[in-house]
Amino acid sequence: GKYRVVSTKPMPGTRWIRLLTDQDCRVEICTEKKTILSVEDILALIGDKCDGVIGQLTEDWGEVLFSALRRAGGTAFSNMAVGYNNVNVNAANKYGIAVGNTPGVLTETTAELAASLSLAAARRIVEADQFMRAGLYDGWLPHLFVGNLLKGQTLGVIGAGRIGSAYARMMIEGFKMNLIYYDLYQATRLEKFVTAYGQFLKANDEQPVTWKRAATMEDVLREGDVISLHPVLDKTTYHLINKERLSIMKKEAVLVNASRGPVIDETALVEHLRKNPMFRVGLDVFEDEPFMKPGLAEQKNAVVVPHIASASKWTREGMTTIAALNVLGKIKGYPVWTDPNRIEIFLDENFQPPP
Ligand code: GLV
Ligand code: GLV
Repeated sequence: GKYRVVSTKPMPGTRWIRLLTDQDCRVEICTEKKTILSVEDILALIGDKCDGVIGQLTEDWGEVLFSALRRAGGTAFSNMAVGYNNVNVNAANKYGIAVGNTPGVLTETTAELAASLSLAAARRIVEADQFMRAGLYDGWLPHLFVGNLLKGQTLGVIGAGRIGSAYARMMIEGFKMNLIYYDLYQATRLEKFVTAYGQFLKANDEQPVTWKRAATMEDVLREGDVISLHPVLDKTTYHLINKERLSIMKKEAVLVNASRGPVIDETALVEHLRKNPMFRVGLDVFEDEPFMKPGLAEQKNAVVVPHIASASKWTREGMTTIAALNVLGKIKGYPVWTDPNRIEIFLDENFQPPP
């Protein structure tokens, strides 16, 4: 291979490797056993010559790494994630490194995980599972693990982009919930869907579903029975959910986060969970990942999973393919398109490398 491409982690499947090796790239996959690589580890990987890197959301891609990649002759970096709060895009631009992410292919998978967490928290699935395994079930009782019915309740969505909208559709269509959402942008297609579904239900003599775009996030927090967070993590969304905002939520609300941990002040959340046993959360992400704030693990009213929202086979195949094409496209100078509002994404979903 003429070009050296480094992947900081072994990734599932082989298609991504083939795509690169078929196009003059030698692929080097880091075999370091520890889960999270330090900046020093990655500097060593980049070495003296490196054309492009596929990296992970656990890595700090800033000034140090992008300047090193530049010195090694590199021009391309792809995060294997849709979120890129771990990437300093300005630093990358400064060193002439183009940056890509992997949107689209994880929308439904992530939304399905948020829906799973919503149900697990509302119906106390994990608590009940632990109860069974502990041998505590000694007969049916009317008050065993009573949870919340979703039908007819209000679904709150904060951040109605691709993932937030897909999640909303699943919950509304599946459980006939009413929607209140908050986003800087109007979610026109989602609104149309809820309107049409409401008309369908009405025509069938069922209670129609409704939607409302909230003027403030507080309106969503006050009215939502199940609230799911789908914003991008940046300065404006850090600790979006804090002590004060938790205090205006319903005492029996369900809160779900499959976006980024620091969107919630987790210490305040632990305190809130302690004081409000009927308040429940489903968390895929944590403020100090991989750690949980002290006390969270002891809360029965929390369902916690280790950042697995995009972890389906189909999606991982898609993410690794897009990550490889991002890097390949830049290195080989294939046509690229740029979303000026967000990150530089080189290649559209229909891209095929030339034969
Ligand atoms: C995962 O968290 C992602 O952003 O893709
Ligand atoms: C992320 O921004 C997404 O909604 O896909």
